[in-house]
Amino acid sequence: MATDRVTGLGNEALTLEGVHAYYGHSHVLHGISLRLPEGKVLALLGRNGAGKTTTIMSIAGLLPARAGSIKLFGRPIEKLPPEFIARAGIRLVPQGRRIFPSLSVQENLAVAEQQREGKSPWTFSRVYELFPRLQERVRQGAGSLSGGEQQMLAIGRALMGNPRVLLMDEPSEGLAPLIVAEVGRAIEQIKSEGLSILLVEQNFKLALDLADDIIVINTGQVAFTGSAAAVRENNELVTQHLGVF
Ligand SMILES: Nc1ncnc2c1ncn2[C@@H]1O[C@H](COP(=O)(O)OP(=O)(O)O)[C@@H](O)[C@H]1O
Ligand SMILES: [Mg+2]
Repeated sequence: MATDRVTGLGNEALTLEGVHAYYGHSHVLHGISLRLPEGKVLALLGRNGAGKTTTIMSIAGLLPARAGSIKLFGRPIEKLPPEFIARAGIRLVPQGRRIFPSLSVQENLAVAEQQREGKSPWTFSRVYELFPRLQERVRQGAGSLSGGEQQMLAIGRALMGNPRVLLMDEPSEGLAPLIVAEVGRAIEQIKSEGLSILLVEQNFKLALDLADDIIVINTGQVAFTGSAAAVRENNELVTQHLGVF
């Protein structure tokens, strides 16, 4: 991870300051601020309906923020259309996977391909190394994959864009425990290569295992921010905001 020699501070991959977002007249995000340091995993937690997906949609430009700033490595992106934000280096693994069911595994990866300068860019073969199950199903229609395989494909598709920041919206949702563990290992591996990840999770244990920092939102406002280490010491710092786990 890059650390500034003068200030001793790491680079911020993603920074939100006072982000407000609306669906029509419905005011859903009330000033969300967060920081994702380069190469880290920030877990974004909160009850159902708290505004997690809306936060992700605002970052990706799919629901543009009406106020506040969003920066990617210091560069303002909150006014950019979604395709420019993707090209600038933010890729999304959407809630519910949203793979293209009528395309094959390989075609799903191909449509997302974007080259970027880097030490070891993501390629088809590297995605298949990460998820060998996908390699066995290269020509299979993505709609016929199991839920876990579709999630692996959704992650692989996002990686094919060689992102600088990866947004993951509930990657473990609806998956059997063994598959959750497999997806968790893949996220660990992606992280170990230095990718910065904003991880929305309902699976508290998985989030705690993977995250460096935790942020909890509640009705569109930040209720807690802190290190994952502090939360591991004292779960109650966040469980009070999350309902039953
Ligand atoms: N397309 C939409 N139109 C109107 N309201 C929405 C829409 N999507 C979500 N909401 C509302 O916005 C709030 C936040 O939703 P969301 O960001 O999806 O929550 P989370 O991902 O934390 O479960 C909820 O009250 C939800 O009902
Ligand atoms: Mg959601």
